[in-house]
Amino acid sequence: MSDVEEANTIEVSTVDRIATITLNRPDRRNAITRAMYVRLTEVFEGLATDPAVRVVVLRAEGEHFCSGNDIGDFASLAEWNRENPAPLRFVKAIASFPKAIVAGVQGYAVGVGATMLLHCDLVYVAEDAQFTYPFTKLGLVPEAGSSLLLPMLLGRVRAAELMLLGEPVSADRAVALGLANGRVTGADLQAHIQAQAERLVALPPEALRQTKKLYAHQDLESLMARIDAEVVVFTERLQSPEVMEAMTAFLQKRDPDFSSFS
Ligand code: COA
Repeated sequence: MSDVEEANTIEVSTVDRIATITLNRPDRRNAITRAMYVRLTEVFEGLATDPAVRVVVLRAEGEHFCSGNDIGDFASLAEWNRENPAPLRFVKAIASFPKAIVAGVQGYAVGVGATMLLHCDLVYVAEDAQFTYPFTKLGLVPEAGSSLLLPMLLGRVRAAELMLLGEPVSADRAVALGLANGRVTGADLQAHIQAQAERLVALPPEALRQTKKLYAHQDLESLMARIDAEVVVFTERLQSPEVMEAMTAFLQKRDPDFSSFS
């Protein structure tokens, strides 16, 4: 797939003041490539100031919401992060997005597919949804501010379980932990997030924006600083032998072997 074709897998449409962003690369489980990060950043930055848009719906085509960073891109990611960090720009755009974001998640939400949801305002899950933060298993560290936000939301020990062990979180547990607002059937997911977005659109827009600013962005500086700190370590880790082993194992469809590392 060319960069243009990959960017086009990020679909955006605006109807009645609701912009819907759809990840549409289901054959790769909506894994995000560099071109897709660039497009997502443009989209979020544009919608932030678009007076025709009050609320954003974030959804995905196919059986899974998003399998995280495209693993095929990992070899080049360290270089990009140093020169023109597309994933970092996307994370900052969604983390500082001033309008409400309503997300609908079916199937797997892995890595950045899960951490981007920490920057959404209302998150609804289908019964088969599963959030995973598999950073250590890949030789990596948390990103997108998750090392700050998960302990803040869940408390340290529960966050550690997810971040150190990479334990998957089922739909019901995501709701119980406060990572999602509610569970609906897969068949009802789209209608439900659309209905919630319509409820938000009917409310006074400036009150919505000011409310989000108060609950989500009062300490944006600390969040941005943590996101920057995570990227430094993440980028260093990308060239480590541990990551090489994890990525090679994924591509060879075998279990990784970390037994030789000290
Ligand atoms: N990057 C690139 N390609 C990916 C991908 C990713 N993150 N996730 C899946 N794919 C590809 C697979 O390689 C496979 O390609 P193939 O058809 O050429 O073999 C295709 O998408 C389907 O994936 P598959 O693993 O067969 O789908 P599944 O439905 O059985 O499992 C997942 C879905 C999400 C559980 C599984 O794909 C997975 O674990 N992906 C990797 C997640 C990950 O570690 N992401 C990195 C986070 S930092």
